[in-house]
Amino acid sequence: MHASAIAHPNVALIKYWGKRDIAENLPAVGSLSVTLGALSTETTVEFDPALKRDVLVLNGHEQPLEQGRLTACMDAFRALAGSDEYATVTSVNDFPTGAGLASSASGYAALVTAAAAALGLDQHESGSSPGSGLIDVARIGSGSAPRSLFGGVVLLSIDEHGTNCRQLTAPAEWPLSVAVAVTTESKKNITSRDGMEQSRLTSPFYEEWIHSHADDLNAGIRCAEAHDFPALGKLAEHNCLKMHSVMMTTQPALLYWSPVTLACMYKVMSLRADGIPVFFTIDAGPQLKAVCLPDALATVTAALHDVPGVLRIIAGELGEGASVADR
Ligand code: DP6
Repeated sequence: MHASAIAHPNVALIKYWGKRDIAENLPAVGSLSVTLGALSTETTVEFDPALKRDVLVLNGHEQPLEQGRLTACMDAFRALAGSDEYATVTSVNDFPTGAGLASSASGYAALVTAAAAALGLDQHESGSSPGSGLIDVARIGSGSAPRSLFGGVVLLSIDEHGTNCRQLTAPAEWPLSVAVAVTTESKKNITSRDGMEQSRLTSPFYEEWIHSHADDLNAGIRCAEAHDFPALGKLAEHNCLKMHSVMMTTQPALLYWSPVTLACMYKVMSLRADGIPVFFTIDAGPQLKAVCLPDALATVTAALHDVPGVLRIIAGELGEGASVADR
């Protein structure tokens, strides 16, 4: 009745910001991401008939504020698995938590993978990829979590039935590298969940963001399928800045960048002007993620490391999807 799983965070190149259905945690738009092999979450799920509620222990501390989201995800899992037992979920991240590094994505992907293994549920209802049941359960935990069930370049799409998710290219099929410039180790003040709802309610650009999103997503799919790095970079930076323009025009304003984030953006643009194949993306936090071709990783890492205010660089290749840990 217990099992452990490992999942990597992911970073969206075509982003999700805003929900279609809050109760179901259904994103308003699809997204396209890369799975970050250099960062990991390990989660153990232990079902226990004596428990009266689910318990989450993250990095050694119990998380009462996470109770609602944990219970919603575990309830969906119990409905799928036909179980009524509560569980203790123990999770450890090897990177800053709640700081715009997608810890909820890797956390909930590892959670559903471990929970399914603990109950002996067939995670792969068809073929070798996680089945749609598990994808929807992960989505209840976090809209970006289904993407961490898969490795490489990943597409999450939304239709009338819910969430679909699949791998577009495997890490070996289209090798890409990512350097994360860590600019703070602290938690952000406003979570993505609260921020995106505030944007929906108040940003004058929100409707346009939703309206223009399908074109970006379809173009992103074409770039990934063609392994067209320059076109993907142009598109991803545009989509990132579009999302941040929605954030900045939210009331009160969501300004997730710090001066160091901006300095890193300029650095990436100047590297590119010098012919280095690299582009940036930024989520709901001040960390900058630089995506590059593998041969450029050492140059990109060194350049970002030299930007004043950058604390450290976490760099690596694309990772695989969530998997059960052997013990
Ligand atoms: C800016 O998936 O963290 O990283 O569904 O409420 O858990 P919830 O939100 P979350 O939001 C991700 C926002 C983003 C963009 C992205 O990853 O697509």
